[in-house]
Amino acid sequence: MNEQLVQDEAKYIMGTFRRLPVTFVEGHGLTVVDDQGKEYMDLVGGIAVNLLGHSHPAVAEAVARQSAKLIHTSNLYYSEPQVALAKRLVELSFPSRVFFCNSGAEANEAAIKIAHKWGKQHKGGAFEIITAEKSFHGRTMGAVAATGQPKYQEAFQPLVPGFTHVPYGDLEAVKAATGDNTVAVMVEPVIGEGGVIVPPDGYLKGLRAWCDEADLLLIVDEVQTGFGRTGRWFAYQHEGIVPDVMTLAKGLGGGVPIGACLAAPRADVFEPGDHGSTFGGQPLACTAALATLEVIESQRLVEHAAEVGELLHDSLAQVPGISTVRGRGMMQAVVFNEPQAKTVQNRCLEAGLVVNAVDDHVLRLVPPLIMTADDVEKAVEIAGGRAGRAGPARDPGDDIPGYQRSAPGAHARRLPAQRAGPRGVRRAREGDDRGPVPGRDQDLARHRQPGRPPHRRGRAARRGRDRGRRRHHHRRAQGEIRS
Ligand SMILES: Cc1ncc(COP(=O)(O)O)c(C=O)c1O
Repeated sequence: MNEQLVQDEAKYIMGTFRRLPVTFVEGHGLTVVDDQGKEYMDLVGGIAVNLLGHSHPAVAEAVARQSAKLIHTSNLYYSEPQVALAKRLVELSFPSRVFFCNSGAEANEAAIKIAHKWGKQHKGGAFEIITAEKSFHGRTMGAVAATGQPKYQEAFQPLVPGFTHVPYGDLEAVKAATGDNTVAVMVEPVIGEGGVIVPPDGYLKGLRAWCDEADLLLIVDEVQTGFGRTGRWFAYQHEGIVPDVMTLAKGLGGGVPIGACLAAPRADVFEPGDHGSTFGGQPLACTAALATLEVIESQRLVEHAAEVGELLHDSLAQVPGISTVRGRGMMQAVVFNEPQAKTVQNRCLEAGLVVNAVDDHVLRLVPPLIMTADDVEKAVEIAGGRAGRAGPARDPGDDIPGYQRSAPGAHARRLPAQRAGPRGVRRAREGDDRGPVPGRDQDLARHRQPGRPPHRRGRAARRGRDRGRRRHHHRRAQGEIRS
């Protein structure tokens, strides 16, 4: 570590972050490089931000092009990239209109304001929002109050009033907490920062039905789960529902800060003057987001994330010493019985693998969607070697009604649509005749050979890795993957 940098950081930067002892200076695809020239495989990706990996050429090119043309004007005027991006987001999700901002917390603030105004107009001034325990919605005062974790709230009392927290995944608790003053339910479709918790099947559907019955707005916070992270464009789509409000940020800009709040016609209550943002929806950020969405779509990364995420899940679940793995798609958590997550995180970092300990027991993996099966093999080999012994895990999901611990393959059972058959069959059924994605599909098929262990050790592993690297460099040279 550069000691001067550490001292200057402590002197000039407010002490809000506990940093790991590494300074990243460069990144391409899954690889980040520190100031000593050491390479790491990055499975944190800026905390679920870098969907396309680091410095994706399409995003870098779009940013360079747009910044040479027009970086920022103001929402006092029309903007072509802003309207184009809003149209794209609506096409990908549900009939709605968009408010643009710069972060997840801001997107949630917009949603909270929408709920308050909607309550004034439609529910006699009702303003209470039901959210989940263990949830995380951001660091602004409204978002902190919405968050269901006392550790983020205690120092900042009194909190913004009007939030009730109930156990995640418990539909009956939401019903019981609903009163005359309730206006909305706000929920992460999969809890992220709180430890990657997938709710029981039917939870979102149940919430949708209850919101209809009790005349409440359903707000889904897809800040972390959006854009293919869970194997669908948006995680609410796993349950075939449509929310009233959706919040987005993180991956949207391919690393460039941007947030968005979408409201269906029922909830589309903002009028001129109600809300605003100086930077929100600026040409530069919107152009980066358009480039990001274009790559996700043209490289079919949503499907890819479902398949490789499943492989990651199943491979981790078979590592000796890791007894619980849970998550969906490219959002997975490893749960330890002993408070060893931070130790494993640090050991992985030393070994060149970036993972994130969300607390003492849980490691979160939110890799870029471009991760390949070879990357999975390599990551699991490193993480497996650093996980050490862990007994039967106490799973924080255990206290969620209906929650099922993951066993190898359990994840796949929760995603029946994703298991419908070989990829080609599914594509054909969907009228897609584009054929396999070069390199990637063959790669997956090889890793799925019956009886093949999820990861190999020794010479075979090294040979596989070398082959993977050669293929990776070749595909990169061919422009198939830009990493
Ligand atoms: C689900 C969810 N909502 C909101 C936020 C806050 O986003 P931001 O840090 O961009 O304000 C986060 C960040 O981790 C998140 O995971």
